[in-house]
Amino acid sequence: MKRDFLHITDFTKEEIWETLNLAKEIKSHFRNRDSYTPFRGRSLAMVFAKPSARTRVSFETGFTWMGGHALYLGPSDIGIGKREAIKDIARVFSRYNDLLMARLFDHEHILELAKYASIPVINGLTDYNHPCQIMADILTIWEHRGHLEDLKIVYVGDGNNIVHSWLRLAVKLPMEFVCACPKGYEPDGDTVRLAQEAGVSTVQITSDPYAAVQNADVVYTDVWASMGQKEEAEERARVFRDFQVNEVLMKATGKETLFMHCLPAERGREVTDGVMEAEYSIVFDQAENRMHAQNAIMVMLADRM
Ligand code: CP
Ligand code: NVA
Repeated sequence: MKRDFLHITDFTKEEIWETLNLAKEIKSHFRNRDSYTPFRGRSLAMVFAKPSARTRVSFETGFTWMGGHALYLGPSDIGIGKREAIKDIARVFSRYNDLLMARLFDHEHILELAKYASIPVINGLTDYNHPCQIMADILTIWEHRGHLEDLKIVYVGDGNNIVHSWLRLAVKLPMEFVCACPKGYEPDGDTVRLAQEAGVSTVQITSDPYAAVQNADVVYTDVWASMGQKEEAEERARVFRDFQVNEVLMKATGKETLFMHCLPAERGREVTDGVMEAEYSIVFDQAENRMHAQNAIMVMLADRM
């Protein structure tokens, strides 16, 4: 049976660790520019309904380096769900390609794509979640801290797709996860309950960023207005004013804390230039690890076909 990677919870805890170990191995092959070509003669279709820098370049570069051919289909190419039904695209691409990666607005659309595709489907971000990002993020934390035990991860900002993926990770790996967001901008209630009721991690949602970051190992933020919400940007800038990750907030952790951001960042809004450039900022290691984590995810899915 083919497997998909639409949510972090689609992998077991053991598979998450297998992916992380494989990502480290593949990363060292890439750094040495070893020949590593598990996808020779294979193709990856990449469907984007939204803009992207990292996701496109990391998937395309990674798959090409691994011997395959990656095809980019931009927002105006298919008209997925409009010009052509999702279930038709799923079956057409399954006849040509070996893997399918999609970045879509509506999460239901990626579920439908995966349901009708006979090849593995990878979620490159929806309005609901961003599992490839969080796999890269824990790889990065693991590299910096040397372990993933007993970590306090504090997300400050909008309760968005990034938070949903952290919450789903908290179902699988133990951690203390706190999301500090303005009232009315909390993450999806069902996903919060899923994470809390799994009983693996402690999960807290609060509206006090300064209390939240006490003793944090990682402070993480993301844009206040995600793709699809840009017309709300000015209103959100007012609502989120006290949730900026700046030098004062980073100092309030009371310990050596890593700063993370999935990027793209709006410097001067959710994060200051100083925090982005600080030595504790690991945002570019995160971005680099997108490629290695995704390469491992693709190898895992291809091996399980
Ligand atoms: N972090 C991330 O997914 O970046 P892009 O939107 O540039 O792909
Ligand atoms: N929350 C952001 C993440 C971008 C990688 C968005 O959806 O636009």
